[in-house]
Amino acid sequence: MKIISKEIIADYSGIRIIKLTLGSPAISQKAKAGQFVVVMASEEGERIPLTIVEADSKAQSITLIFQEVGLTTKALGALNVGDALYALVGPLGHPTEIKNWGKVILVGGGVGIAEIYPVAKSLKAASNNITLILGAKTKGLLILEKELSDIADKIYVVTDDGSVGQKGFTTDILAELLKENKYDLVYAVGPVPMMKKVSFVCAPVNIKTIVSLNALMVDATGMCGCCRVTVAGKVKFSCVDGPEFEAKDIDWVELQTRNSMYLDREKHICKLKNGS
Ligand SMILES: Cc1cc2nc3c(=O)[nH]c(=O)nc-3n(C[C@H](O)[C@H](O)[C@H](O)COP(=O)(O)OP(=O)(O)OC[C@H]3O[C@@H](n4cnc5c(N)ncnc54)[C@H](O)[C@@H]3O)c2cc1C
Ligand code: FES
Repeated sequence: MKIISKEIIADYSGIRIIKLTLGSPAISQKAKAGQFVVVMASEEGERIPLTIVEADSKAQSITLIFQEVGLTTKALGALNVGDALYALVGPLGHPTEIKNWGKVILVGGGVGIAEIYPVAKSLKAASNNITLILGAKTKGLLILEKELSDIADKIYVVTDDGSVGQKGFTTDILAELLKENKYDLVYAVGPVPMMKKVSFVCAPVNIKTIVSLNALMVDATGMCGCCRVTVAGKVKFSCVDGPEFEAKDIDWVELQTRNSMYLDREKHICKLKNGS
């Protein structure tokens, strides 16, 4: 699990998005689109889940893309080529159902764009017609546009400030497309408010809509209950039952509440570790 390469793919106004390729013979053989790993940057660090963006079985490596948001992602971002992670477990979670659905819209918001990349690639290989909607706060934080343009039959870019593509939100484009054409599947990954809105936009059209949830996780084995979500009125654990679920079945309010549970404590710990 040594770092083979490191690239800072976005660095805008103090927000960095980093791409790390790690040696991992076992995970690279098995990983499928939609799955994730749990990493520990150091022995005393916490475990965090990150999507497997690419798995190269020949090179025996996997690629992760993450945004530095708190203690662990910042610790990971501080590592360099040649350094080793303390722990890496995976592949975890159910893979995405890859088949010929027909016309698919994939919606990626922020670093969620990295998470839709392997799904878009696999769906394209299964002969789907791919429409992509990529959303970022601003041009400097838009990632993988070139790579995804090579896969997509059609691609739309939106930014909050209009610095590239159309000004607005991914869901504005989604609503327009669903009005004009018939699609067979919508797949979305991004911030919870975006996925919740995708769910509301898709509901009246009655189109199958899958989201990959970023519930908080601790053990990622279905034992601790941290990633609990209510799906169609039943308790599910995102790590072992997901991370993908049908959008219309999710209790979004509960998910948002649970995800902000440790907000104050995380800010406090981050300050302590930074010595301020
Ligand atoms: C299955 C899965 C796959 C993921 N894949 C990726 C990925 O490929 N790239 C990536 O950048 N991130 C991904 N995430 C989110 C990533 O795990 C979190 O950003 C990370 O745990 C934050 O850890 P931290 O210690 O740096 O920040 P913390 O100190 O834990 O948190 C800092 C801030 O981020 C918020 N936060 C923490 N965890 C999450 C989360 N899961 N979702 C939303 N906000 C969160 C906190 O509420 C807080 O505001 C994934 C999450 C899941 C569940
Ligand atoms: S992270 Fe512990 S049950 Fe899913």
